[in-house]
Amino acid sequence: MVQVRNTDYENITATPYAPNLGAEIYGVDLSKSISDAQFSDIRQAFLDHQVLFFKDQSEIPPARHIEFGKRFGLLHSHPAAPTMKGFHEIFEIHATKNSKIANGEFWHSDVSCDELPPLGTMLQIHIAPSCGGDTMFSDMYAAYSALSKPFQEFLNGLTATHESEHIYAGRYADRGVVDQDIDYPKAKHPVVRTHPDTGRKALFVNRTFTTRINELSSQESDSVLKVLFEQAEHVNHQIRFRWSLNDMAFWDNRCCMHRAVWDYWPEERKGRRVTIKGDQPF
Ligand code: SIN
Repeated sequence: MVQVRNTDYENITATPYAPNLGAEIYGVDLSKSISDAQFSDIRQAFLDHQVLFFKDQSEIPPARHIEFGKRFGLLHSHPAAPTMKGFHEIFEIHATKNSKIANGEFWHSDVSCDELPPLGTMLQIHIAPSCGGDTMFSDMYAAYSALSKPFQEFLNGLTATHESEHIYAGRYADRGVVDQDIDYPKAKHPVVRTHPDTGRKALFVNRTFTTRINELSSQESDSVLKVLFEQAEHVNHQIRFRWSLNDMAFWDNRCCMHRAVWDYWPEERKGRRVTIKGDQPF
């Protein structure tokens, strides 16, 4: 069903990207300080569309990128990923012909293994391959609401374990990260969470970090997680964003998942990511 989403903002222009989620944002220059009125529209658009794609941007200076992130809350430090020299708040996404992995290749909500998983993530791409390197997003409100009522009722009240050692151990070794001192996060979250700002319910499990539904037997948990991962990744709930140089994406980790497509090897892709701390899911 096509939802009618708000596009009525005074200080920005928002064009829906697809029926479920996403909007392209025009009329904002993120390399400069933005007014309170524009900030207020961006914040509302973020809640209305779940992921925003800021178009027609130039390269945002790192300090400005950090400042923009801080307007949404305290910044989140990644437990394992390499940061930018001189800017520990920035996680550099970088894949080259020598990379063994590219970041975010499987469906996930960023660092959902944290006790307080990130509210949102802002990524600007500065080096893009000649084609490919898209990022896919999936709408977790839609994934939940498309389930049958009895199944929704069954899921409400269940919790899941999200772990990270199996993902992060050794992952960034080729970028100079020494792993042994890392306290790999692990957390228990509701399977269905309520978005603190919109009040809407969203599925909150993902193939990267979610390992177990706590109240079920191991066999039951495996079967239910299989159904939920397939539901969360269903093509009807997805969009696939094709980047232009210096586009900035800002996604809401509380109600969408994403996946980066590494189809451009041996070409290079590089970007800077700032992540905002979130609250305890409920
Ligand atoms: C990520 O932050 O998970 C990677 C997203 C991307 O590189 O497109």
